[in-house]
Amino acid sequence: MLPRTARLALREMTDDDLPSLAAILEDPLAMTAYEGAFSREETLAWLRRMQERYAHDGFGLWAVILRETGEMIGQCGITRQSIEDDEVLEVGYLFRRDHWHRGYAVEAATACRDWAFRTLDTDEVYTKIRSTNIASMNVAIRLGMTVRRTYTTHYRGVDMPHLAFALDRRRWRELVDVANAPVE
Ligand SMILES: CC(C)(COP(=O)(O)OP(=O)(O)OC[C@H]1O[C@@H](n2cnc3c(N)ncnc32)[C@H](O)[C@@H]1OP(=O)(O)O)[C@@H](O)C(=O)NCCC(=O)NCCS
Repeated sequence: MLPRTARLALREMTDDDLPSLAAILEDPLAMTAYEGAFSREETLAWLRRMQERYAHDGFGLWAVILRETGEMIGQCGITRQSIEDDEVLEVGYLFRRDHWHRGYAVEAATACRDWAFRTLDTDEVYTKIRSTNIASMNVAIRLGMTVRRTYTTHYRGVDMPHLAFALDRRRWRELVDVANAPVE
């Protein structure tokens, strides 16, 4: 069962989602941390890569659907990623710009974080964030993550300093227990 929240439902992306995906990946501002907008070819390659991840891993970045309207407003989910020589599980999130600052990214990413710890045999969940992407860091902080290390990637011809944020299972359990504790 894929994550679902009060306002959002997550599901695998299909070819019909290409225009909604393009509205995120072909927006230069939303793609600042990725060094600019994708071409349609790059958007299609991204969709195909996600479909491969669904088939191979059973998870990937999913479409985030606004339950009230059925509209796809973002992508959020879990992917296998490398950080230097380590293989990690990452919570990823990218939302359409006209839906920022409404709490949707935190709501979806929290549900994906919980899904990962409940469904997958992992002790840690990471988020890889370019050092200039403050909005993304604020989401990671709201997920209860802390910075583990800094490192540099090379993507689209540019060196990109990054921070690796993470949360471990023991700390996650404490956060979930506090969130579910009855109010005195
Ligand atoms: C990173 C990203 C997903 C963050 O999205 P966001 O819209 O800022 O995230 P949210 O709305 O969930 O939460 C953050 C903000 O909303 C506010 N918020 C939370 N609930 C809210 C609500 N119900 N109504 C209004 N605002 C709310 C929070 O206070 C927070 O504001 P602040 O950070 O300015 O203090 C978005 O900037 C994005 O898609 N960026 C492009 C892709 C990208 O870089 N992804 C990350 C790659 S590592």
